[in-house]
Amino acid sequence: MIEKIKSHIAAVEAFSSTNAEEIENFRIKYLGSKGLLKEFFAAFKEVPVEQKKEFGKTVNALKNTAESKVNSLKEALESQEEAKGVYGDLSRPGEPISLGSRHPISIVKNKITDIFARIGFNVSEGPEIEDDWHNFTALNLPEYHPARDMQDTFFVEKDPDVLLRTHTSSVQVRYMENNEPPIRTISPGRVFRNEAISARSHCFFHQIEGLYVDKGVSFADLKQTLQYFTTEMFGKSKIRLRPSYFPFTEPSAEIDVYWGLETETDYKITKGTGWLEIGGCGMVDPNVLENCKIDSNEYSGFAFGVGIDRIAMLLHQIPDIRMLSENDVRFLEQFKSSF
Ligand code: DAH
Repeated sequence: MIEKIKSHIAAVEAFSSTNAEEIENFRIKYLGSKGLLKEFFAAFKEVPVEQKKEFGKTVNALKNTAESKVNSLKEALESQEEAKGVYGDLSRPGEPISLGSRHPISIVKNKITDIFARIGFNVSEGPEIEDDWHNFTALNLPEYHPARDMQDTFFVEKDPDVLLRTHTSSVQVRYMENNEPPIRTISPGRVFRNEAISARSHCFFHQIEGLYVDKGVSFADLKQTLQYFTTEMFGKSKIRLRPSYFPFTEPSAEIDVYWGLETETDYKITKGTGWLEIGGCGMVDPNVLENCKIDSNEYSGFAFGVGIDRIAMLLHQIPDIRMLSENDVRFLEQFKSSF
């Protein structure tokens, strides 16, 4: 009898299955209410006294082995089913990974920085949360200067002023404070203005600032650089510098590109004039150089600021500036580019 039970223990140990029904039948065979173990326990009273101890031990061993076998097989089965639930059919073909595309703002920004890199301009960046000094005061816009109202400002904190920069000109100041001339740098970034949101304007947008400071930099250098830029960027070399006012440059000008009047779109975007305004520029005001500890008797420079969103809208015929920040995949997917 004891030998028979031992052979059952061996059989239980050898048993394996991943089939739920087979495992259940196995359980019933050994552990069920009419199962083998029940029989063996019932037979206990007939076992001769001297064998009772070993018999009892062996039956218990069979019981423990059977129970742990059933438990481990059931566990294995459950975790297999769980995995199926998570991963599905592991043998089916993979899903294609859809390709991303660059944001139109990044495409234009990269194109501009690339054009200027070719003539020796590096890229610099500054913080979006600025202090009064870098956004206004150092740029020749002291407190109570009326030109501060040209740009509606979001204040983070008052006194001392902490604000969201209203233009990337703040990076000019930071760059001049930390670098010696000759300086040739391009500063792209996001800027903020407290303006009503519409199809044409947003409370945040992007600019690129350019700065060149060296001995003997002249207005002719500025014009030549801008002409090079518009030719590379738009394929248009005819530009016009319209006298204007910015506190940080003297003289100052608006940059217009001659777009032409060949198509209906040309007519629409230039309001029938053929000219398109793309930004502001000028010779860096000596006060700004001095504020940044650069000797204005020795050095001169030019600066310019261009709106990236406007250019992106122009080049890709985007009718509403809000599309640039809504991140609708159907919109973004249209911009595949090597930049
Ligand atoms: N900061 C000006 C703006 O936000 C743009 C600008 C004009 C930048 C003239 C310049 C500049 O560097 O020289 O409207």
